[in-house]
Amino acid sequence: MSITTLPDLLDKMWKDYTSMNPQALKIYNLFIERGDRVVNDHIALRTFNHAKVGIDALSRSFLQGGYEYQQDYHFTEKKLYAKHFQHPDEHMPKIFISELKLEEFDDELQSIVNELIEQVPESALQQYDFCSNGRPWQVDFNTYEKLRAKSEYAAWMSAHGYRPNHFTVFVNELNSFADIRDVNAFIKQNGFKLNDSGGEVKGSKDVYLEQSSTLADSVEVDFSDGKHIVPSCYYEFAQRYPTPEGQLYQGFVAKSADKIFESTDKGQK
Ligand code: NI
Repeated sequence: MSITTLPDLLDKMWKDYTSMNPQALKIYNLFIERGDRVVNDHIALRTFNHAKVGIDALSRSFLQGGYEYQQDYHFTEKKLYAKHFQHPDEHMPKIFISELKLEEFDDELQSIVNELIEQVPESALQQYDFCSNGRPWQVDFNTYEKLRAKSEYAAWMSAHGYRPNHFTVFVNELNSFADIRDVNAFIKQNGFKLNDSGGEVKGSKDVYLEQSSTLADSVEVDFSDGKHIVPSCYYEFAQRYPTPEGQLYQGFVAKSADKIFESTDKGQK
């Protein structure tokens, strides 16, 4: 079935994401069993800052579907640039798209990534659901490992391609929990591990946003020279606080996200 509408695209993204990250579906179901309603705060996508596949290319379908650009972010430590998009319907998840700044890496990384991107057919880019179609290139495990030594983010992209990196549960809408710490305790009680790099809760009430996440699941990936198990995706939780103007803060906090990005690092398992 070809995907041409926003609801179908979001549905496909969730199905693809939970197939890569079964722990997310298990945790989602635990919330539902408690009688909670699960609202997504945001969905995060990754790419490279290359003209062919950058944020502009990835955001096109969302803009067509009514999303609007809101704000951009610089993650200096992680060498990332990101933009977030919002839909006028506030029940729709925000879309957060980051891109790796290739020029800040050495020639080897740049040439590997450029070779991957050269393999992407123009016709694939024209698909409405390109951002959820997976890996549009061939890559061998040795190349993945080479990238991983330089950037976990580049390695993740090389193995998984275009698909959600994470979905984020909007904690404010989980009525049976007092706050994000309460959610974290529940997740750990149920046997899941949280990313504790920089503390389990990233951010604070002072920056109007607190986030936590599970450690990434692992998945078997079909590299061009065989199958290997690599980190896949994580599940994230976000609690938002009102700004002095009285509205819930809708942005992101670069400093906290620097640490959240480490949830897919291999060393963390
Ligand atoms: Ni996130």
